[in-house]
Amino acid sequence: MTDPVYVTDALIAEDIHAYLEQHQQKSLLRFITCGSVDDGKSTLIGRLLYDSKMIFEDQLAALEADSKRVGTQGQAIDFALLVDGLAAEREQGITIDVAYRFFTTEKRKFIVADTPGHEQYTRNMVTGASTADLAVILIDARKGVLTQTRRHSFLAHLIGIKHIVLAVNKMDLVAYDKTVFERILLSYRAFASEIGITNFTAIPISGFKGDNITALSDNMPWFKGPALIEHLENVEIAAAADEAKSFRLPVQWVNRPNLDFRGFSGQIASGSVRPGDAVRVLPSGKTTTIERIVTLDGGLDEAVAGQSVTLTLSEEIDCSRGDVIAAADAPPEAADQFEATLVWMADEAMIAGRAYWLKLATQTVSATIQQPKYEINVNTLDHLAAKTLELNGIGVVELSTDKPIVFEAYADNRTLGGFILIDKLTNATVAAGMLHFSLRRAQNVHWQASDVDRDMRANLKNQRPALLWFTGLSGSGKSTIANLVEKKLYRMNRHSFLLDGDNVRHGLNRDLGFTEADRIENIRRVGEVAKLMTDAGLIVITAFISPFRVERDMVRSMLPEGEFIEIFIDTPLAEAERRDVKGLYKKARAGQLKNFTGIDSPYEAPETPEIRIDTTVMSPEEAADLIIDRLLG
Ligand code: ADX
Repeated sequence: MTDPVYVTDALIAEDIHAYLEQHQQKSLLRFITCGSVDDGKSTLIGRLLYDSKMIFEDQLAALEADSKRVGTQGQAIDFALLVDGLAAEREQGITIDVAYRFFTTEKRKFIVADTPGHEQYTRNMVTGASTADLAVILIDARKGVLTQTRRHSFLAHLIGIKHIVLAVNKMDLVAYDKTVFERILLSYRAFASEIGITNFTAIPISGFKGDNITALSDNMPWFKGPALIEHLENVEIAAAADEAKSFRLPVQWVNRPNLDFRGFSGQIASGSVRPGDAVRVLPSGKTTTIERIVTLDGGLDEAVAGQSVTLTLSEEIDCSRGDVIAAADAPPEAADQFEATLVWMADEAMIAGRAYWLKLATQTVSATIQQPKYEINVNTLDHLAAKTLELNGIGVVELSTDKPIVFEAYADNRTLGGFILIDKLTNATVAAGMLHFSLRRAQNVHWQASDVDRDMRANLKNQRPALLWFTGLSGSGKSTIANLVEKKLYRMNRHSFLLDGDNVRHGLNRDLGFTEADRIENIRRVGEVAKLMTDAGLIVITAFISPFRVERDMVRSMLPEGEFIEIFIDTPLAEAERRDVKGLYKKARAGQLKNFTGIDSPYEAPETPEIRIDTTVMSPEEAADLIIDRLLG
């Protein structure tokens, strides 16, 4: 290895443009450092920055100011000061963030993600690792393989980091003893193979003294290399591997400045593409060929993984945001049911059955997760039974999406296999996930088209189907008004069907109680049944508390635009409780009935219902007339 400092300094002095040019062309390695509190992580990162002498300018300025303050003016940056600065920064940000630091050598640029080591920061490590090519797992030579070492290795492997470096640190404190290093190596190898890490590079170092960092150390003649920076400079990075795979471009947007030009823009996730290549657009499966590859700097003969380009196709075929343009002879699959690993990142636990937004590459769909198959104890790697996943929990789940998504297994393609889940109400990112495979049961159950369709059935009945979805507190008057509405429809020769909470819970849903998860499943089933009934041409009326906005919206999205009519029976809690038709509020107040809506279970009122009925000013009869009027008027 050549001396990085000398070469860059000389070049900067000589020709800043040549320097920048050379800098631009260097490849970039992203890596993550994992260690527990006292493993010497800050010291090692300080050492890497110090030895390569390339620190972000603001860090440099801050440190120079510091060194002036303590009277070391005129000297180069002091190593100890640098490390202190980094450690202080880390401590300030410890609960929130991943600190990204930048440095460069003659051969390569580096971004290192520095994440806190405690167990409760699993999500930070996942964030930092999601874009990393390599992980440096730090071990204190005096302590050997610890629980944290196992956890970090497991997570790094889970996230698909191909290159693992086992840095056995503080060798100076064990007298540079070869047997200490070898013993650690042996025990790590046994563990690593258990979790599927087949390949790793072990390096004995001292971050503090600088042994085996930039060059091989005389203190450990028994170690034949490579030194840490040398290894980081030479390891093959993912971009190169991605280029060798089949071509995939998730379409970010359709570029149509005028009628003559229609281009599909996005970043190439894998493989390479040339004009004339046969491609397939997914999920539709239509094939065509690439006409041109356009960039800001003009046309290209070839584009590869990592590049952002606009493609024009030789035929006008349907292709829009979220579609994937792929090699015609090796396309990815599309499916709507999957097995996946989830890392839960929100303070609120996962809710089985609830719909979340799922974002994968440029696709956004609605997804529901089933109860975990198991949760993984990241310290022991045991599989545990679980009903949910809490903050930092990792588990294997099955999930289904409301329409097919184009995907690949995460192990094959991080871009098309990695996803995040977003809470529909708060827009917070609640989980990161990795797809394993699509479920075969989804592939083998096809939609059976029938010749008599929903329009024909409705026409025969001489009506338009609709779903009148009543929502409101227990005792608000839903059933009473719904019942009147159905009677009036009957008299008008309309074909209807009333689904009522208390009744459905005696049959179809008798296995469900009133926990959040059970209520969600209650509404999901009722939604599916109601949808089938509208397909049959009926005017369906449902009377369920349906306390959660997300599930009501889910049912809304299952039906054609305009068919879902949300009717909020707006009776204040105090009024419903005063009426207490079934005596349930009294029981709930007395603590004899748990999870009672309005008392110790929430009700989320609709924000913009189609119809709102204030039962304190309107009689049931008037309310029913108003609803009929809105439906048929
Ligand atoms: S929902 O929340 O899942 O939509 P649903 O409308 O099916 O509820 O059932 C509500 C009815 O069940 C109430 O009208 C009441 O008669 C009865 N019930 C029994 N226990 C509860 C409870 N803990 N919370 C609310 N309703 C309850």
